[in-house]
Amino acid sequence: MANMTALVSCVLLQIALVLLRPAAGMSFGRYHNYDLMREELENFTRVYANMTELYSIGKSVLGKDLLVVNISTAPVHQLGVPNVKIVGNIHGDEPIGREIILRLLEYLVVEYIRGDSNIRFLLDNTRIHLLPNLNPDGSELAVEGNCRSGRGRNNINNHDLNRQFPDYFRHNRSNIPTLVSTSQSIDPEVQAVIDWMNSVPFVMSLQLHGGNVVASYPYDSFYGESPNERLIRQYGTDDVEKISKIKVKVTKKEPALTPDTDVFLHLASTYARLHPTMHMKRPCPGNTVLEFENGVTNGAAWYSFSGGMADYNYLYHGCLELTLEISCCRYPAPSEIPIHWRSNQNALISWLQQVHRGVKGLVLDETGSRLANVSISLAYKNVSFMSSQRGEYWRVLMPGVYFIEASKEGYELFRDRIKIPESTSPVVGAVLESLLEFNITMTSIQNDKVGNDSESKPNNGVATLNSSPMCTKYFILPLIVLLFVVNKTM
Ligand SMILES: *[C@@H]1O[C@H](CO)[C@@H](O)[C@H](O)[C@H]1NC(C)=O
Ligand SMILES: *[C@@H]1O[C@H](CO)[C@@H](O)[C@H](O)[C@H]1NC(C)=O
Ligand SMILES: *[C@@H]1O[C@H](CO)[C@@H](O)[C@H](O)[C@H]1NC(C)=O
Ligand SMILES: *[C@@H]1O[C@H](CO)[C@@H](O)[C@H](O)[C@H]1NC(C)=O
Ligand SMILES: *[C@@H]1O[C@H](CO)[C@@H](O)[C@H](O)[C@H]1NC(C)=O
Ligand SMILES: *[C@@H]1O[C@H](CO)[C@@H](O)[C@H](O)[C@H]1NC(C)=O
Ligand SMILES: *[C@@H]1O[C@H](CO)[C@@H](O)[C@H](O)[C@H]1NC(C)=O
Ligand SMILES: *[C@@H]1O[C@H](CO)[C@@H](O)[C@H](O)[C@H]1NC(C)=O
Ligand SMILES: [Zn+2]
Repeated sequence: MANMTALVSCVLLQIALVLLRPAAGMSFGRYHNYDLMREELENFTRVYANMTELYSIGKSVLGKDLLVVNISTAPVHQLGVPNVKIVGNIHGDEPIGREIILRLLEYLVVEYIRGDSNIRFLLDNTRIHLLPNLNPDGSELAVEGNCRSGRGRNNINNHDLNRQFPDYFRHNRSNIPTLVSTSQSIDPEVQAVIDWMNSVPFVMSLQLHGGNVVASYPYDSFYGESPNERLIRQYGTDDVEKISKIKVKVTKKEPALTPDTDVFLHLASTYARLHPTMHMKRPCPGNTVLEFENGVTNGAAWYSFSGGMADYNYLYHGCLELTLEISCCRYPAPSEIPIHWRSNQNALISWLQQVHRGVKGLVLDETGSRLANVSISLAYKNVSFMSSQRGEYWRVLMPGVYFIEASKEGYELFRDRIKIPESTSPVVGAVLESLLEFNITMTSIQNDKVGNDSESKPNNGVATLNSSPMCTKYFILPLIVLLFVVNKTM
């Protein structure tokens, strides 16, 4: 009898789920203002509660929840599942990114259920976090059909959210005191992202914009210099008229490159190539001077600014974030949303797959316990990153030979050579062939060896530059020799 009741309620539940499903399809005929978006996300994640979860990372100035959906079919306890994120509408008047994120959410779930093998692989092995609208107060003020920057770009305090993140270089240039910004307070939208990044070990990220069509990679900041400071340094003046009189092309900018430029270029150009127009060097209307070779640019080489979210992601967390500009018009007519979705669909899926190349593994001590907060770096990339709270690590790398190094107070420096294999097949799913699984085992320092604990350097838990022991002259030379020998013999 109890079995019968269970069976009946199970059948009823199934029927209820089937009946609910039509209501779960999102409507895409129009833009989603905040209330509509919230309702759609709540309904959708209720129906697909077995694959998605809706959560909030904080509130906007006016108290709207900054909603994120995470999608994965990997069990929460499974180790080694990389986290990626996509953020839309950081500028309130650029809503195409938001709409594309909502479509992507539905697409991933529907195709998973339909049995698409690429999507199945992705959701079974990745945790994807989608934040459609980081600036809900601004986006409510933006005007549909307005192609130029304007109302609603900034948040309600009239701050550009993509200029408010801590600037690693700026804060560290104590030799130029005027550079240190007066302790400007951080708006809640930006603080929410900072807290989010402190709690989830993101490996890769996208921020979606409108107003151009290009994939831009860090740095955006010219090592902490403001555009004016840069002009003064380059030309001895910030007077644009004077500069143009001395016949210097003011628009020509230097790139500011990270040690991961090979990876960033791969990610950006793969995206641009799979987008039907991004790679075509077709300037947006009214923007005829700007041409992006292959649809890709370094941020600072385009125009530099301080306080951007992408630089923050990379320098403070080692997270590889691209800035994607995906429509010439900032706020096009709703009838254009489907075109933009189709243009970005394959590029987005391919980008998601790229998180499964490079190296990943666990950081263990000699007893096999996992270690959190271990600082990891690759020769000669002097930007390090941390193992997760569960002792996992990930790094997207191009095929090749690297030296991986790990350090933590109380442990001996770990160093080993790794080889990221080439993938032989050209299909997009082949990134996996280029994934190396590699565990790092740390050996604790015996007390009699050190004598005095206070000698070891404290580790403050953020990504660190230059402080990497890889930079010490004792290692660099032998490594160069080794690398040379290895290359020669392979
Ligand atoms: C959400 O679900 C409720 C209850 O089923 C329904 O009344 C409402 O129309 C749905 N909202 C949207 C935007 O689909
Ligand atoms: C989640 O539930 C849907 C039915 O609502 C089902 O089709 C799908 O396969 C389930 N997903 C997983 C990962 O079990
Ligand atoms: C994401 O989803 C899983 C369940 O699928 C949940 O356990 C986890 O706490 C969620 N949130 C984050 C931030 O990952
Ligand atoms: C300055 O650089 C150090 C590493 O050299 C880093 O730990 C610190 O977070 C940076 N400070 C700021 C405010 O960015
Ligand atoms: C890495 O080291 C080089 C050489 O010391 C330095 O020029 C560069 O600024 C460093 N990178 C970063 C991100 O600080
Ligand atoms: C890494 O360690 C885990 C846990 O000990 C183990 O299951 C896994 O097989 C190891 N992976 C490799 C590549 O050695
Ligand atoms: C360790 O070094 C600190 C500071 O240099 C000193 O005060 C302390 O006495 C030393 N302890 C031992 C055990 O040598
Ligand atoms: C790792 O560092 C973070 C930030 O400093 C800290 O909150 C956390 O407790 C540390 N975790 C472990 C296991 O040491
Ligand atoms: Zn923008």
